[in-house]
Amino acid sequence: MRKKRVASASGGAGPRAGPGAAAGPAGITAMAADAQVPLAAAEGRVPGAGAGAQVSLAAAEAHLWWARPDAFAEAGQLARLRALLTDDERARADRYRLARDRRASLVTRALVRTVLSRYSGVPPARWRFRTNEHGRPEIASPASPLRFNVSHTDGLVVCFVSRGRELGVDAEHLGRDRRWLDLAERFFAPAEARALREVPAAQRRLRFLEYWTLKESYVKARGRGLTLPLSGFWFDLPAGAGDGIRIRFTPVVADDPARWQFTLDCLGTGHVVATAIDSNGVGEVRIAHYEAVAARRGGSLGPAHSAGRMVLDPG
Ligand SMILES: CC(C)(COP(=O)(O)OP(=O)(O)OC[C@H]1O[C@@H](n2cnc3c(N)ncnc32)[C@H](O)[C@@H]1OP(=O)(O)O)[C@@H](O)C(=O)NCCC(=O)NCCS
Repeated sequence: MRKKRVASASGGAGPRAGPGAAAGPAGITAMAADAQVPLAAAEGRVPGAGAGAQVSLAAAEAHLWWARPDAFAEAGQLARLRALLTDDERARADRYRLARDRRASLVTRALVRTVLSRYSGVPPARWRFRTNEHGRPEIASPASPLRFNVSHTDGLVVCFVSRGRELGVDAEHLGRDRRWLDLAERFFAPAEARALREVPAAQRRLRFLEYWTLKESYVKARGRGLTLPLSGFWFDLPAGAGDGIRIRFTPVVADDPARWQFTLDCLGTGHVVATAIDSNGVGEVRIAHYEAVAARRGGSLGPAHSAGRMVLDPG
């Protein structure tokens, strides 16, 4: 299954282009940073439901939630997030040496818990998780048809959720600087390494990160970690924004390309995010975007979820 490469604003529901959009290499559309809705504007002023508001999620939909961990800087905010976690999760966060990493870990766990609760009525602190044999976290209890996958990178945490569909997500910061061609020769399929060499040098970083995040999103959707050879599948990236992303497999991986739908987005936060989802049975899965924001200073909440945003740390 193909999915058009789409642009998304930073915030608001649904992939879309918006003010500040700029065409990038290979037709991807990036949102300029100034197109973002400031957090302060989002907090408490959004008309809508209360803190525990439910979000509906049909079988033919998936939701991509994202949060900026650095928005949760105050002690009170962090304490509210910590309260949602298990002792193990708190201990895991505490093991990070840098405050920024501890914060990202707290936000990640709190985001997963709060997001899952939006679909189920289960209190965020009640979820228990297990990992599969390759380390993928899954819901252990209460029993639930929900599936999720998480990615975190410098300045961004994302959580992708479906009702019963296998899915994966990967986010990378666009500011990363690496030896792109060397990495591609080492990790990518020959067709991808070749395509990257042919891209003008100025576009190579973005193109590399597109391949990288797409590959990771597929690996994560399969849940097999790096036991799945990265050179065993490759992506055809379209020349224009209206074309689809296609995956191809070698016999080593031997999957069905028609089963998978992919998206690529450049968020206004300066990140590229790829999703992979099993679209079997519905043709196309509709993907909506939601942002989790910090509660207002002083803890006054106001409406917590509406128009694609929710407050992650209601007091
Ligand atoms: C662990 C891996 C699944 C993703 O790692 P990553 O891209 O570095 O990190 P991300 O932030 O995107 O994802 C980490 C999250 O994926 C989830 N995860 C862990 N193992 C997973 C698996 N087998 N399948 C799916 N998701 C998994 C976890 O939720 C984890 O976060 P958590 O530990 O805080 O819960 C794995 O693919 C990996 O080690 N990749 C290494 C990177 C690499 O070499 N990439 C080459 C791409 S060309």
